[in-house]
Amino acid sequence: MISKKIQDALNEQVNKEFYSAYLYLAMSAYCDGIGLPGFSKWMRFQYEEEIIHVTKMYDYILSQGGDMHLQQIDEPPKTYGTPLEIFETTLAHEQMVTKRINDLMGLAMDERDYATQTFMQWYVTEQVEEESNVNNVLQPLRMVGEDKGGLMMIDQQLGQRLAPTPPVAAQ
Ligand code: FEO
Repeated sequence: MISKKIQDALNEQVNKEFYSAYLYLAMSAYCDGIGLPGFSKWMRFQYEEEIIHVTKMYDYILSQGGDMHLQQIDEPPKTYGTPLEIFETTLAHEQMVTKRINDLMGLAMDERDYATQTFMQWYVTEQVEEESNVNNVLQPLRMVGEDKGGLMMIDQQLGQRLAPTPPVAAQ
């Protein structure tokens, strides 16, 4: 079982993960619209990653007998600027998510909720990977600047990203 405090915090995080999915789907559409199919595919898979994050948390809440409250999802922006700006926005967003995950872990520790701490550890590890993946794109983007040939090369590389593994039930 989980306390109401943990249940409500997890429900809020489900909403934020849905927003992340929405944000990356909007970015995927935007990249498609500006002629960057590789960036678009990368963001589409990032959207699918977020659906995995959502589903895993949803399953956990239900498995602990918690109430699921699916809340309204904020509308993401329609435009995101240059490829560099897209990934700077992405990094800032993931850093915000990391802070939220850390706060959730802190709450589980305050509540002496060991099951939720174990569950949240997966997200702590996942956020290290999320930030690293974004930084790995930001570095070459900063190097090529406005150079169109360089951007096309990065677009090709991003288009090789593999689809994430499908959602799994709560552990
Ligand atoms: Fe669900 Fe990208 O963090």
